[in-house]
Amino acid sequence: MNSIQSLSKQFGNIAAVSGISFEVKKGEVFGLLGENGAGKTTTLRMLATMLKPTSGTATMAGWDIVKEPQKVRSSIGILFGGETGLYDRLTCEENIAYFGELNDMSRTQIKERIRELAKVFNMEDYLTRRAGKLSKGMKQKVAFARAIVHDPKMMSLLQDLMSVQ
Ligand SMILES: Nc1ncnc2c1ncn2[C@@H]1O[C@H](COP(=O)(O)OP(=O)(O)OP(=O)(O)O)[C@@H](O)[C@H]1O
Ligand SMILES: [Mg+2]
Repeated sequence: MNSIQSLSKQFGNIAAVSGISFEVKKGEVFGLLGENGAGKTTTLRMLATMLKPTSGTATMAGWDIVKEPQKVRSSIGILFGGETGLYDRLTCEENIAYFGELNDMSRTQIKERIRELAKVFNMEDYLTRRAGKLSKGMKQKVAFARAIVHDPKMMSLLQDLMSVQ
């Protein structure tokens, strides 16, 4: 279960997030909606341990985001909207493997996992092509595969979509 408790983030005199609390149970799909500037991205960045909360905390997959950020990172898959952030000059498999290495996976584990993901996402044909030359959809699949290369326990994917009004 993910539990968010009175999470707040202050940027100077801007209160980006003011004491937000909610729970997301295992297997649940949870969406965060709000107008532009409401604090959605800031909330997700705190849950992904990319930003430290000003106050409050949260447990993600059972780990505290403030006290155990490394444990949180190894338990969640993060996929932000917009740019995929792939390294253009690396091949698809190199992009995915790099994140496997950052998650302390062995070469054998990485190889096996890429084979598995390539099959699921139907991307076997372009694994060895450079990411920069791929179509948008192909890039999105590689980015998705990269986000779950370490097989996150709770498969907590944080997909931050830009809202358009
Ligand atoms: N790094 C930062 N430094 C200063 N202020 C920030 C920073 N990041 C966000 N903010 C401010 O915090 C508030 C919340 O921003 P945030 O990006 O979380 O909103 P959002 O809900 O994701 O909006 P959108 O729907 O437009 O993506 C805004 O007022 C924004 O200007
Ligand atoms: Mg946003």
